[in-house]
Amino acid sequence: MRFRLVLIVVAVYLAVTLLSVVTISYQARTDVVREVESALSQTALMLDGLPLTQKRIADLSGLAPRHVDILPQGGRPPVGSTQADTPAWFIDLIGFHAEPLPERRVRTADGSEVRLLPNSRDEIAEVWDSIVQLVALFSIACAVTLLVLMLALKRAQSQLRSLVRSVERGTKQGIGLKLAQYDEPEVKRLADHFERIGSELEAEQADNQRLTDALMQLQEEERAELARELHDNLGQYITGVQATAALIEVCCADPQKTLEAARRIQRDCSEIHAGFRQLINSLHPVVLTELGLSDALKSLVQRWQENTSILCVLSVDDELPTLSIDSATHIYRMTQEALTNCARHSGANRVTVSLNASRKRLSLAVVDNGSGLAPGTRFGIGLRSIHQRARALGGAVSLESTLDKGLSLVIDLPCDGQVQSQLQSQRQENLSA
Ligand SMILES: Nc1ncnc2c1ncn2[C@@H]1O[C@H](COP(=O)(O)OP(=O)(O)OP(=O)(O)O)[C@@H](O)[C@H]1O
Ligand SMILES: [Mg+2]
Repeated sequence: MRFRLVLIVVAVYLAVTLLSVVTISYQARTDVVREVESALSQTALMLDGLPLTQKRIADLSGLAPRHVDILPQGGRPPVGSTQADTPAWFIDLIGFHAEPLPERRVRTADGSEVRLLPNSRDEIAEVWDSIVQLVALFSIACAVTLLVLMLALKRAQSQLRSLVRSVERGTKQGIGLKLAQYDEPEVKRLADHFERIGSELEAEQADNQRLTDALMQLQEEERAELARELHDNLGQYITGVQATAALIEVCCADPQKTLEAARRIQRDCSEIHAGFRQLINSLHPVVLTELGLSDALKSLVQRWQENTSILCVLSVDDELPTLSIDSATHIYRMTQEALTNCARHSGANRVTVSLNASRKRLSLAVVDNGSGLAPGTRFGIGLRSIHQRARALGGAVSLESTLDKGLSLVIDLPCDGQVQSQLQSQRQENLSA
């Protein structure tokens, strides 16, 4: 990066210098000719008709105006001048040598001639000096710019390095980011941004920890519930069957008692069967694979209504896209969770559950007419799991709550054609099994 920056600065200065040199040289080509021509004309006008003798002309040569050499008849032009400092290529560039200006002649009082020779030496040397000064000036400016840039860069880089070190240390130790104060505005902004991300990450981690704890507790509660159900309910019926079977052994001679015992065994067995179905269903909605999502939702809503005595209206589109069993399970569980919340928190007397499909989207809405979300409500496992499931399906959840008017929970999901065909084959497999 440093090298590239140096290269850019030098290139810019070089381009500007080159452009200035070319402009000055180009302008000088016409200026020099104009200056010398005007000097020649002025000198010719000045000398014309003056009573000059050869001797006086020799004196005048020493006082010759710039750009003009005054020579008496037969005199030789001067050699060696400031032009010697000016490189030949530059004189060629100005183009004076290629097209030399013609000399002028003036007649003196004694009848001889005075030669006026054009002299561009001083003028070209002046232009050359200006160019040398300009290049020197630009070189100094370029060096100063580079120096200032390097210093600023060094400072910013050292702050950036320190920032990276602090961020690396913070993330390695898993602690919140507390970064030093930086005075470079960009580095400061970056540090603030990292600190913000760090604290968000910390909050997220704490949240995740809380969620994991709650999930583990829930798992324990579910296991305890399962054990209680198996022991208190099903275990009790199995003990009953065992006892009745033992009774048959004792009174098998009495047909009436045997008949009664057989009936009791039948009754207990159907209770065990019903208990098992309920237990299995609470562990996994078997009804989904047996009946499909639409009927599974109907059965869920019906049971919920019976248990809560809250009116629940279900509306499911006639033509739903076929979904994978995973997607259907997520939708079923989200509905179940939303209904549980309505029963536990809303105080509603009417709930609507609708599942609508458009071309490429599926929308599940659970709307109640209860209390709505209280201000400052924090999400528990229920709403989080709804969000998590929606995200797993590539969808999103929106909650609209109006105090004392109710809560509307809408889950918008994409439908995937590939998933549909998977499910079709899965359902066909289930049917053939
Ligand atoms: N339909 C609703 N009407 C009013 N408030 C609701 C409704 N649904 C949820 N809430 C509020 O949102 C909070 C969070 O709900 P969430 O389901 O995430 O957790 P929870 O039901 O309290 O506990 P759990 O983790 O067992 O589900 C609830 O405590 C409740 O205050
Ligand atoms: Mg809940």
